[in-house]
Amino acid sequence: KKILFVTSELTDLVKTGGLADVSAALPRALGDRHDVRVLIPGYTQVVQCGQPIRIVGSVISHADLPPSRIGRLDMPDGLIIYVVVCPELYERDGLPYGDEHGQDWPDNPVRFARLCMAATDIADGTAGIRWTPDLVHAHDWPTGLTPAYMHWRGLTTPSVFTIHNLAYQGNIDMSLRRSLAIPLEGCGPERMEFYGALSLLKAGIAYANHVTTVSATYAQEITTPEFGCGMEGFLSMKARQGLLTGLLNGIEESWEPRSCSHLVSPFGPNDWSGKDANAAHVRELFGLVEGNGPLFSVVSRLVHQKGIDLTIAVAETIVENGGQLAILGRGDPHIEDEVRRLVERFPGHVGAHIGFNETDARRLFAGSDFLLMPSRYEPCGLSQMYAQRFASLPVAHRTGGLADSIDDGVTGFLFSEATVDSYRGAVERALAVHRNPQLLNAMRCRAMSGGFFWSHAIEPYDRLYQRLLGGRREVSA
Ligand code: ADP
Ligand code: GLC
Repeated sequence: KKILFVTSELTDLVKTGGLADVSAALPRALGDRHDVRVLIPGYTQVVQCGQPIRIVGSVISHADLPPSRIGRLDMPDGLIIYVVVCPELYERDGLPYGDEHGQDWPDNPVRFARLCMAATDIADGTAGIRWTPDLVHAHDWPTGLTPAYMHWRGLTTPSVFTIHNLAYQGNIDMSLRRSLAIPLEGCGPERMEFYGALSLLKAGIAYANHVTTVSATYAQEITTPEFGCGMEGFLSMKARQGLLTGLLNGIEESWEPRSCSHLVSPFGPNDWSGKDANAAHVRELFGLVEGNGPLFSVVSRLVHQKGIDLTIAVAETIVENGGQLAILGRGDPHIEDEVRRLVERFPGHVGAHIGFNETDARRLFAGSDFLLMPSRYEPCGLSQMYAQRFASLPVAHRTGGLADSIDDGVTGFLFSEATVDSYRGAVERALAVHRNPQLLNAMRCRAMSGGFFWSHAIEPYDRLYQRLLGGRREVSA
């Protein structure tokens, strides 16, 4: 079947976090069974990616959404990407959602509504490209209007909407309704109205034929006030109707420490000399003194969700016990500053790189003994899966996908409250395991054998698609 993925990030071209990894990997993993193509905005990083973009269609203006061309980009491995080419909206320096300083682009509602309307035109067969999807799968708030526009257009093509992070809701002022071609019927509380605003995320939840999120635990959590971000009532209703499912993300087969080309040295279970070589490299790169103590790492967006402040609070325990800490990531400028201050407090024991690159990220997963992930909430989390594949044991808060992908005391360490004390207890357990080489070896081997690959994780997606393609009636049953 023909499936159109609508997304705002794709690891091959532009990435701010795990959504990009899923958008790149899931269509490829489904490629043996379906013809999956991706639609993405033509950001500067996309139009200048070095691969030719052939113009294959165009879409007309709707309200304030400017007319655009549709380009086609064929990735070297055969993945077909459609690009919404609209220089005035997308070709600027910065990141998908804002400038380098993290300031959102003021015209984000129009930028992403343009993407969603283009998806609708493609589904409707009016974009001039000779390929019409049988099903449309949209991801997170930037693509939330896709199922809504499809519904208002009267299309019967089924749609799936995946929530990767409920906290980013794309809430916009009601006065933007007309400029985004949103009909009045879309503005009720059972549609996209949210506390007097319009929520692009809620549009996706309200109008998709089925809503998924990225782990079973998070699917349950978001129906509660603690994690529901104000949408718990609406999501509970969807869950009761059988229209909300948690499907755990997977990872690509390239996460194999024996062959990963990013690593300083390959390694496998029970053979840690290659892992040690990566550790030595990380120590040098992060200005850490040589030593045999445990090496902890953080590879993360530096935002409140990720509990970086909690890690800063337990850093002393790590250092006092002869451990070291390497931090890689970027995000909220205040948190970046706090990380810099931590490095000043423990020179030679804590090191940080504010920024991101894939090679260093993989070397950190490979070189560290433990990955710290005290996320306050975590819809799925991929880093803890990557770390386990590379024999770095995650120390993580028992929430969302972390709870679903870490076996406490077997493949990592879970703590139950997002507090410094609870977290410190897990760090101390990790330190104790590090003093017991036999146990450390056993846990590493177990962690590496986790079957997180997309080749398994696609099964429930495939079943969902089949069900939706077989007719709406079965889905609501
Ligand atoms: P999230 O999507 O919430 O950031 P995940 O654990 O699902 O968390 O995914 C993290 C992915 O993003 C990993 O591939 C990780 O290496 C990468 N990553 C982490 N921090 C950054 C960053 N600051 N910029 C870009 N990618 C990052
Ligand atoms: C979001 C979530 C993360 C998840 C990723 C991919 O960024 O924060 O937990 O793994 O999306 O689904």
